[in-house]
Amino acid sequence: MNTRESFSPENTFEIAKEIAEQFGHSLILLKGPMGSGKTLFSKGFAAGLGIEQKVSSPTYTIMNEYRTDDHCLYHLDLYRINSLEEVIDTGLYEILESEIPCLVEWPERVEDLNKLPHLQVNFSLDLAKSPDYRKITWEWIGS
Ligand SMILES: Nc1ncnc2c1ncn2[C@@H]1O[C@H](COP(=O)(O)OP(=O)(O)OP(=O)(O)O)[C@@H](O)[C@H]1O
Ligand SMILES: [Mg+2]
Repeated sequence: MNTRESFSPENTFEIAKEIAEQFGHSLILLKGPMGSGKTLFSKGFAAGLGIEQKVSSPTYTIMNEYRTDDHCLYHLDLYRINSLEEVIDTGLYEILESEIPCLVEWPERVEDLNKLPHLQVNFSLDLAKSPDYRKITWEWIGS
């Protein structure tokens, strides 16, 4: 398990950028409470892949796609999803077969997703330390 402490939004952005350089072709499940930095992490991750488009939260769109000449990235937010069928409808499983990186916020909503090999990234707050403190841990789960 890898651990980094973040003391600012910029810190989280930089940590995500570094992780993108190592795990650029995987399913990445982002777990943590509201406001813990999952979307901010996704912005840094996209930057790490060389994607310059503006990355925004897919809370309402469910899935956002980012493409450059060289790179592609999918970013999902399953907060509003209630079943595996709805995830299948997004086309996520086909995308994974093509080995395009997929960032998923709120993967807890669909238990089956957690059975796939993935990079699990956990975000936690510690308000006693600072409102801007986040602990970020990550580990590869599966084959
Ligand atoms: N160290 C930090 N890392 C990340 N975000 C931080 C940090 N300190 C403060 N913040 C603030 O916390 C908020 C994180 O918001 P973000 O949208 O990334 O969270 P989220 O986990 O995606 O939430 P949601 O579950 O609602 O989608 C931002 O407003 C950001 O400025
Ligand atoms: Mg978010």
